[in-house]
Amino acid sequence: MAIFTTIEEISKYDGQEILLRGWLYNKRSSGKIHFLQIRDGSGFLQGVVVKNQVEEEVFKVCKELTQESSIEVIGIVQKDDRAKSGFELLVKDVKPLTIAEEGYPISLKEHGTDFLMDHRHLWMRTPKQNAILRIRDEINLAIRLFFHERGFILVEPPIITPSSCEGTTELFEIDYFGENAYLSQTGQLYAEAAAMAFGKVYSFGPTFRAEKSKTRKHLNEFWMVEPEMAFVDFEGNLKIQEEMIEYIVQKVLQNKQYELKVLDRDITKLESIKAPFARISYTDAVEMLKKADFEFEWGDDFGAPHETYIAEQFDKPVFITHFPTKMKAFYMQPDPNNSEVVLGADLIAPEGYGEIIGGSERIHDLDLILKKIQEENLPQELYEWYLDLRRYGSVPHSGFGLGLERTVAWICGIEHIRQTIPFARTLNRVYP
Ligand code: 4AD
Ligand code: MG
Repeated sequence: MAIFTTIEEISKYDGQEILLRGWLYNKRSSGKIHFLQIRDGSGFLQGVVVKNQVEEEVFKVCKELTQESSIEVIGIVQKDDRAKSGFELLVKDVKPLTIAEEGYPISLKEHGTDFLMDHRHLWMRTPKQNAILRIRDEINLAIRLFFHERGFILVEPPIITPSSCEGTTELFEIDYFGENAYLSQTGQLYAEAAAMAFGKVYSFGPTFRAEKSKTRKHLNEFWMVEPEMAFVDFEGNLKIQEEMIEYIVQKVLQNKQYELKVLDRDITKLESIKAPFARISYTDAVEMLKKADFEFEWGDDFGAPHETYIAEQFDKPVFITHFPTKMKAFYMQPDPNNSEVVLGADLIAPEGYGEIIGGSERIHDLDLILKKIQEENLPQELYEWYLDLRRYGSVPHSGFGLGLERTVAWICGIEHIRQTIPFARTLNRVYP
């Protein structure tokens, strides 16, 4: 009796007869041999069907199998150093479960991006896309483990919110029983409330921004992890960020070697991601850009070329700290030594991947946060609950937000963020 198993487990069965259930991903045939590319969800494996070693019927069945037909395969596991998985299957028997229609849209030839995105539901079956989403899963788990191991409580902020948290221009508006409501841009303000209840918390969920940006770094729906910590200052905030990034990268290196290989990722670049990271103040970064002949004034926001240039000056992720107060969100704590800048920082990933984290110490003084809300013309009545956090036992606290998809793109070393999420929502796309 063949042992039922999955491709992921195959190294345990070297030389033994196994049964796999999966799909025929691709096929090459000659008169005497079929090479079946089999996938079963857990991995990819080549099966070899040799005419004079199987029943005549089996060889005939293989000839008729179309791409993406579902199959049951029995065969002997054999070591093969040329295979990425290290093994292949010497096939004994193949049973078709369903024969897929002819004309499967995704062939192995090159397709245009729009075509692939239109067929995302099928594209995700292919090895590279599969590897990316498996690495996403690993990063997801690593983030949760990191915070869980350190005593952080997971809290889920609402997705439907009455007001803006991060800025008023990028909101998706919805009709909430005749009232205006918005899809959340960030869970931060709710995480702040939870931090005053639990000390250390994090939220992890989808966030929505109606940004009309069409870049390789922007999605309109993306996932963000947002820790928030009572009694933690600016310095402590950066430390936990460094520690978290190192932890995530190391987990991927430990557990996702095969996937990194499928993506041709240069892993020496990841191996060097160790805390502490580099730091530069916004003001020094501006000087650095000017020296390199960029047209840039103090108070301007960095664009992709600026971020890339700054990142290239360091061989690790770099924090840009102390941004101008005017550029940043209302809740950021001004530097007590210079109120023109805030105790906030962005973390810039290496290799041109840009900002992956934004964070800061929060204003904990009631009068100051009230003043900021008024200056920004935010509707105070909708922030009363947030002001209560400053009225009742306010303490210094800090937090940050890590964009999951940008992190996945960087660790995978892939060109565009749209490949890092199962079904991307971008300026021109809500299908499939
Ligand atoms: O810098 P942002 O806007 O910060 C916040 O929302 C804070 N409230 C977070 C906090 O302190 N709790 O966004 C945080 C991160 C960015 O660094 C980036 O990685 C990601 O979210 N991000 C996006 N990712 C994909 N597409 C977009 N349109 C993104 N906008 C932000
Ligand atoms: Mg930001």
